[in-house]
Amino acid sequence: MNGWRPGDRRADTHSMLRVDQAGEYGATRIYAGQLAVLRRNCTEAKLIARMAAQEERHLDRFNALMAGRRVRPTGLQPVWKVAGFALGAVTALMSEKAALACTDAVETEIDRHYGQQLDQLGDQDPELAADISEFRADELEHRDTARAAGATGAIGYPLLAAAIRAGCRVAIALSKRI
Ligand SMILES: [Fe+2]
Ligand SMILES: [Fe+2]
Repeated sequence: MNGWRPGDRRADTHSMLRVDQAGEYGATRIYAGQLAVLRRNCTEAKLIARMAAQEERHLDRFNALMAGRRVRPTGLQPVWKVAGFALGAVTALMSEKAALACTDAVETEIDRHYGQQLDQLGDQDPELAADISEFRADELEHRDTARAAGATGAIGYPLLAAAIRAGCRVAIALSKRI
């Protein structure tokens, strides 16, 4: 990690918070869509409910930081509300394993995204960096949980994972700006 030096560009922490809050909000919507479809007592639903509770905690924290720092949320919130739920519901309708493949793919991109933010932050804004590092560890744990429960065994896994990862990258790029 590189520290900020005079002449370096400062990281745009407002934009970071905006995209991170959008991502955590999207995650809660994906899991809501999956839990609406999955049988309540299946193994996958139990795993997903536990991960969903952690996403709520991540979201609450970013909401609080945004309110405290007067950062506006993304204008795309209504889009992520519908698109997140739809992605969750559709993958869960495909199969329980496809629902897990969705988590695997999303968390892979979020890990990459949080890693990039931590590099950009360096030792600027330790408060935000601490939250991002902590949440990043949770997201990696979600990815590993999904894989351990059979995500990669979903029918069409490589294509499904690639499509979801591409979608996440587009959503991240849009939420930084809009
Ligand atoms: Fe999260
Ligand atoms: Fe997560």
